[in-house]
Amino acid sequence: MKNKYGLVLIGCGHIGEAHISDIYYHDEIEVVGVVDLNLEAARVFAKKYGAQSYGNDYHEYLKRDDVDIVIIATYVNSHLPILKDCLAAGKHVLCEKPIAGSLEEGREFYDVVKAHPECKVQIAHILRYNESYRKIAEMIHDGAIGDIRLIRMAQNHHIMNRDRYATLLRDCPPIIDCGVHYIDVIRWFTGMDIVSIGGIGTRIGDIAPDGTFNYGLLTMELENGGTAFYEAAWADSTASYNLKEFIGTKGRIRLVLNDYRFQDHEEGDLIEYYDAEENVYHTINLRAKYKNMWGQLKGLIEAIETDGECFPTMDDVFIAYRLALLGDQAIKEKRIISIDSDKDLL
Ligand SMILES: NC(=O)c1ccc[n+]([C@@H]2O[C@H](COP(=O)([O-])OP(=O)(O)OC[C@H]3O[C@@H](n4cnc5c(N)ncnc54)[C@H](O)[C@@H]3O)[C@@H](O)[C@H]2O)c1
Repeated sequence: MKNKYGLVLIGCGHIGEAHISDIYYHDEIEVVGVVDLNLEAARVFAKKYGAQSYGNDYHEYLKRDDVDIVIIATYVNSHLPILKDCLAAGKHVLCEKPIAGSLEEGREFYDVVKAHPECKVQIAHILRYNESYRKIAEMIHDGAIGDIRLIRMAQNHHIMNRDRYATLLRDCPPIIDCGVHYIDVIRWFTGMDIVSIGGIGTRIGDIAPDGTFNYGLLTMELENGGTAFYEAAWADSTASYNLKEFIGTKGRIRLVLNDYRFQDHEEGDLIEYYDAEENVYHTINLRAKYKNMWGQLKGLIEAIETDGECFPTMDDVFIAYRLALLGDQAIKEKRIISIDSDKDLL
């Protein structure tokens, strides 16, 4: 690793704090600046996390030679214009998901990244850096549960910060905002294409803009005929709920995150593996950091230093994004959309 990387964080909100709080103290990183339209938010971050400076306009920072990496942790609709400015200035980027608020912008995002191979762009599909998810991926790839037949996933939020969720909903519904993570997980774990997508959606309360849903359930078919669903809600009256279960011909794996464990929180996440051939349950306790922001940033630095690909690749990111958009379209049009091969979506 090069001795030090100069870094600027743009967006001092919820996820910006998850990034900066996990990286600011590492010797390899010098936080040159923190930026937010809300100058007071940037001032507080600078003081709290020892940034050299703060501001409300990121453009000045892109002119500086001591800035190597920019983290974009702003609202979805601003990702593309900020990315374009960063790449034009020759900076490497770690950008929050989803990449954009529309297919046209998403396509432009993808094309701009491809047009700048000298800059590495990591999209924050953070579950790729979560040790529990990595362990399950490894188990499935090693054949622990045989042929995958069913994936059951839900991630419902009981919203406690209305303003933040109202802003996020203005840009996209939760089945896109969070869905990109879980569509990516399905493709990563199974190594298979998703060949059809459908779903249902509804409005709970008045927080979602007209014509959009703050509850959605995506149904997907895998290329081997297996199925998957993913449910997402952001509402005042939904309970927080988390389900992650992977069922195959030889067994089943269930992930219970630390926060959702009935007991033994101190042991970390619980991975429950049922071996159907032996009729035996195995439990694995893993102290995984849910959002391993430093691990993710190190992934970007490794790609910079080896001139390698980011994890996931931009192709995988774009396919997951397009599938999420198709899922939203399928829900609105009340139909199932077939896809010959999801690679055709590139
Ligand atoms: N990877 C994950 O697990 C995860 C989790 C939560 C949110 N996110 C994503 O992170 C992004 C931000 O979400 P959040 O929950 O942190 O929102 P937030 O409202 O808490 O914070 C966003 C911040 O960005 C600032 N901002 C917006 N435009 C700006 C600009 N042009 N220049 C400077 N600052 C600007 C806002 O003032 C705000 O402080 C969204 O894309 C969201 O989907 C990702």
